[in-house]
Amino acid sequence: MICLCNGVRRETIEKAIEGGAHRLDEIFDQTTAGVGPCGGSCRDKLRQILAEKLPAGKPQGEHDD
Ligand code: FES
Repeated sequence: MICLCNGVRRETIEKAIEGGAHRLDEIFDQTTAGVGPCGGSCRDKLRQILAEKLPAGKPQGEHDD
């Protein structure tokens, strides 16, 4: 389980990425992971999965820089 707030599993996130969600906000929209009442404590894990699934590029979608 990646997002405890909303009960989202890693598999669900990987499928969303494979289906075209290549940014954090797209993952939020498609899976509800990362937008629960805790304020997003799982987002680091989401970034990590994105980085693993998208080796060609860095995760995008938030203004970290
Ligand atoms: S654990 Fe994912 S938003 Fe709280």
